[in-house]
Amino acid sequence: MIVFDELRGTISLHTRRTTYQMKADQRGVLLHLYYGPRVEAEDLSYLLRYADRGFSPNPSGSGADRGYSLDTLPQEWSTCGVGDYRLASAEVEQPDGSVLLDLRYASHSIRPGKYALEGLPAFFGDEGWETLSVVLRDPSSGMEAELLYGVCEEEDLITRAVRVTNRGEAPVVLCRVMSLCLDFGRSDLDLLTFDGGHVRERNLSRAPLRPGVQSVGSVRGTSSHQHNPFVVLCERDAGEDHGLCFGAALLYSGSFLAAVERSQFEDARLVMGIHPHHFRWALGPGEHFTAPEAALICSPDGLTPMTHRFHRAMRERLIRDPYAGRRRPVLINNWEATEFDFDAERLVDIAREGAALGMELFVLDDGWFGKRDTDLSGLGDWDVNERKLPGGLEALAPRIEALGLGFGLWIEPEMVSADSDLYRAHPDWALGAPGRPQTTGRSQLVLDFSRQEVRDHVYAAMRRVLDSARITYLKWDMNRSLSDVWSAALPAARQGEVFHRYVLGVYDLLERLRRDYPDLLIEGCSGGGGRFDAGMLYYTPQIWCSDNTDAVDRLRIQCGTAFCYPVSTIGAHVSAVPNGQTGRDTPMETRGVVAMCGTFGYEMDLGRCSREEKETVREQVETYKRRAALIAGGDYYRLTDPFQDPPFTAWAHVSSDKREALVSLVTGSARAAQPFPVLRLRGLDPALRYRVDGGEVHSGAALMYAGLSFPLVRGDYQAKQLHLEAV
Ligand code: DGJ
Repeated sequence: MIVFDELRGTISLHTRRTTYQMKADQRGVLLHLYYGPRVEAEDLSYLLRYADRGFSPNPSGSGADRGYSLDTLPQEWSTCGVGDYRLASAEVEQPDGSVLLDLRYASHSIRPGKYALEGLPAFFGDEGWETLSVVLRDPSSGMEAELLYGVCEEEDLITRAVRVTNRGEAPVVLCRVMSLCLDFGRSDLDLLTFDGGHVRERNLSRAPLRPGVQSVGSVRGTSSHQHNPFVVLCERDAGEDHGLCFGAALLYSGSFLAAVERSQFEDARLVMGIHPHHFRWALGPGEHFTAPEAALICSPDGLTPMTHRFHRAMRERLIRDPYAGRRRPVLINNWEATEFDFDAERLVDIAREGAALGMELFVLDDGWFGKRDTDLSGLGDWDVNERKLPGGLEALAPRIEALGLGFGLWIEPEMVSADSDLYRAHPDWALGAPGRPQTTGRSQLVLDFSRQEVRDHVYAAMRRVLDSARITYLKWDMNRSLSDVWSAALPAARQGEVFHRYVLGVYDLLERLRRDYPDLLIEGCSGGGGRFDAGMLYYTPQIWCSDNTDAVDRLRIQCGTAFCYPVSTIGAHVSAVPNGQTGRDTPMETRGVVAMCGTFGYEMDLGRCSREEKETVREQVETYKRRAALIAGGDYYRLTDPFQDPPFTAWAHVSSDKREALVSLVTGSARAAQPFPVLRLRGLDPALRYRVDGGEVHSGAALMYAGLSFPLVRGDYQAKQLHLEAV
């Protein structure tokens, strides 16, 4: 509910459990007053303090009153160059060369429903939403900023976006437009970020705020393996079930910045948005620029409820039909089994083994097109390699279907190999500045997706492929970071637009795909999880989580990913051992249990499995199908912290009515004389009684407070999965 209190001038955004408040003061500065647990009918401006602070300047017209400074006041969207030295929300190069921007309240409106953002991902739905729009203007220039707020009361979700319009007579250049600026009147907070690298994505790091600016971000053109556009600020002692937590996710798949500043006065400011590195957007008179959406969830009661609310909000209001609530097929992918070395018979053999064990979808990965026997060539030439696949997909897909499987395909539309017909025909379609040799990544170049004709060409090629056979699933891969970011289609002064225009181009093509192939299940991928963000989830309901399929490493990668993103979106497969990334052996049972905390599938040559292993696989597939609704739609609980190297890692999926749960546990490397593992469950109903795996019956209270005892197991990385049902 959004409430404007005319008398006091406050605008309050109430969700079920939280309140967010702002107010334009007598000077028209839009002050941020509060974000936290719900507070009714208060004007929280009584918290504001005015004092003459040295070196904190005063706006013009202050006269002898030195107690008012933008440098000391909490603001909704901070300005630039006019006396607030903390993180700026915007930087605009004005026609006179100054980068000064002072924004004052002009008007606001409240309406039912949720705003939409043209060409950008956004939470959606008319039911249960209200929108607040606040227009701010710079009195000395023609710049206007419309701050948009979506309030979803039920999900405790507040979204934000910004539309900047040049209402002046001359062009300006936007050098920075943050989607979110959030001031906290305190700095005794921890910052949680999700960091790593390729094959080591989203490992949780937690540290207290220190004086100055701390940030994570990406300048790679993608949201990246290295950091993630999701951060949490929480009270220093906040844990899973207690403490105030603020989660912020940016719905953006390109370079981003998430920065927090602990200021001299012990407050904190969080900004999030497109990374200002090489961002310069020319805005002519009358033109506007829309910054991507950011989503905020405040949890007054710990990290777990914050996770649950993000999961629910994304499942129900970000991921679009028809896959939002639909069980995803159990798939068998040929990549780790064959890489580029396959022919139709080998593929059909792999698919046949999968079908016999209950799988539902065969995915043909990289290598089916052009001259593609290694990763040195072929990208961009999306014609079937008939030497490997005689008769093309037209011949292969029906053979797969005859086995009772759907047919899925890999593609990497944003890329081109220098050794390809496409590159030879259109060398200027790859990003790269004239007279400068291009940098390659995985021996490939990046197509200039900022250009309509490039996208049209790629899309036409994709359509030919998609129309050539019944293809029910598409894996959209992207295997390098951007470099040489320069477009032949734009003048020198507009090259700073290319990074963002590239992302808009990717979204454009994904949206066209969704429109023309509404039933196609698209799995996002970027060398594993290099573009795992809320922006992509608007287009691709699942994303390959990591190229690291080692079950032990995946415990951390998947736990970090699931801090924000729903389990139903996390691509997870069982692969062969020793693992290709780590060389580690883990039991088949363990690999299955870990992959079940995601969209379940296999990526190995099942023909090489022993009879016992195949039996295990068959049981796993059956178990997954039986439990998929609980795993994908239930509440996910972290039972231990895998980032602390615990003797065992455990998690649970609990149904929303709390009558059913699936508990999974994986031990670490074997230790002699280890303590008996006791696991205190979470999320159950203390008053209900649960049958544990068809055996003993215990109350929810006993299982949560006293715990569940596991037998001692010998050997490294053993797994156990228990199903609990209320009796
Ligand atoms: C990177 C992906 O993450 C892998 O799963 C696989 O599709 C390869 N690319 C193929 O080149």
